[in-house]
Amino acid sequence: MSHRSNIEAGHQLMEPELTVQFAGLKLRSPIIVASGPCSHEPCQIELAMSHGAGAVVLKTVVSDAYAYMRRWPRPRYKLLDWDGKVGGSKFFTLYSFEQGFPNTPHEYAKLIRAGKRLASIPIIASVFAKEPAEWVELAQLCIDAGADAIEVNVSSPHRPPELTIEEAIARIIRAVRDAINVPMIVKLAPSPQVVTHAKFVEELGADAVTLCNRLQGLEVDIETQRPILHRWFAGVGGPWAKFYNMRWVAEAASILSIPISASGGVLNAEDALQYILAGATTVQVLSAIIINGWDVIRDINDGLRHYLMRKGIATVSQICGRALEHLVKPDEIERWNGGPRARDWMYEPRAELKSVSTDADAHLRNSSVQTEVGAPVANVNIDRCTGCGRCVRVCQFYAMTIVDEKARVDSTRCTGCGLCFDVCTSDAIVWH
Ligand SMILES: Cc1cc2nc3c(=O)[nH]c(=O)nc-3n(C[C@H](O)[C@H](O)[C@H](O)COP(=O)(O)O)c2cc1C
Ligand code: SF4
Ligand code: SF4
Repeated sequence: MSHRSNIEAGHQLMEPELTVQFAGLKLRSPIIVASGPCSHEPCQIELAMSHGAGAVVLKTVVSDAYAYMRRWPRPRYKLLDWDGKVGGSKFFTLYSFEQGFPNTPHEYAKLIRAGKRLASIPIIASVFAKEPAEWVELAQLCIDAGADAIEVNVSSPHRPPELTIEEAIARIIRAVRDAINVPMIVKLAPSPQVVTHAKFVEELGADAVTLCNRLQGLEVDIETQRPILHRWFAGVGGPWAKFYNMRWVAEAASILSIPISASGGVLNAEDALQYILAGATTVQVLSAIIINGWDVIRDINDGLRHYLMRKGIATVSQICGRALEHLVKPDEIERWNGGPRARDWMYEPRAELKSVSTDADAHLRNSSVQTEVGAPVANVNIDRCTGCGRCVRVCQFYAMTIVDEKARVDSTRCTGCGLCFDVCTSDAIVWH
């Protein structure tokens, strides 16, 4: 049995190792505090350290060309769709408008120096400027102050009209790459092109990529008929961001040689594990700290350790990208026919079938086509079924009816979509 399979068979007794190598930095945990309001003061670097973060990315410092971004509107955060549950709420959108570090680059350098005195975890400076020379100047100032790495925040770079977005990014990355001697991490905006951009910046010499910054959105107040807050587009993010971002992390991990830091929608250890399994080496967290507090970092680290222990895996880096091995191309996915073949009666008006109906006959009388042999279909455990009718409502294939106060499946109509399983709170539906 190999060393790895020994460990996975449960012979590993030691506490799992969370240390990761990331862009030339050794981090004690893959969990990084993301750039934002949790990293603009020295005490926050201490908090990141004491709660177990592997590193901290400071709030983005902006060059003098963007001095107006150092001033913040009030208010600038709006918590939308929040269910009021601190610690673990799955439903919120943090709508916010806040741009640069609220002070000069000189003060930023003082923050880095203070951070280096107070904490031993790597401090990653985040920079944003206009012309390439200004990017270099900011990055150099941060390195001189002791920054361990630079996150080049090209989420929305200045783009002279004659340049494409790729050309605008390239001239910044080339200039910074040539000038600095610490790891360069490039933070990209979420977009359908982000995977291509990640490959592009790797070729330009990035040591790692952060995927991704937040989307810009807009919320309108229907009473005042105006955009909310300061009446301009705002950053939008929340636990829901994980889903689209995870896909980009997985796609990027399949084609990049440099490591990925995932950023977007992480609330807990499960989210962080999913990103790591999808190919992220490190995972950045911000909104969860803002909403639920610094203990989130400790909880995520504990959750990672428990998971690794339970799975008998020695180090977190062993699971990096594991889910990628199981990605299947669309034309390789196991498929079945899409349900009953078209018959003439399907083209007659049958709107009544769309309501919750207890008329079994209406559903069953034309069900004569056998489903494909071996195709999985739903089946109801009538001992558990309460006859609530939820499954009838969601079945878009008219396969569910209520007969004698119990759900019944017409297996010739069931397309095995799986939705009724999820709405049945009595756990009464099983595969057949
Ligand atoms: C209030 C706020 C301020 C932010 N400021 C910055 C910033 O200055 N620089 C930056 O690169 N990202 C900034 N971000 C984006 C975060 O670093 C992070 O990429 C994003 O919020 C997604 O992670 P999350 O879902 O864990 O919050 C900010 C996010 C929020 C919510
Ligand atoms: S949702 Fe479940 S409990 Fe409700 S009718 Fe359907 S099978 Fe029965
Ligand atoms: S699996 Fe889908 S098609 Fe089959 S009964 Fe349930 S909801 Fe209808």
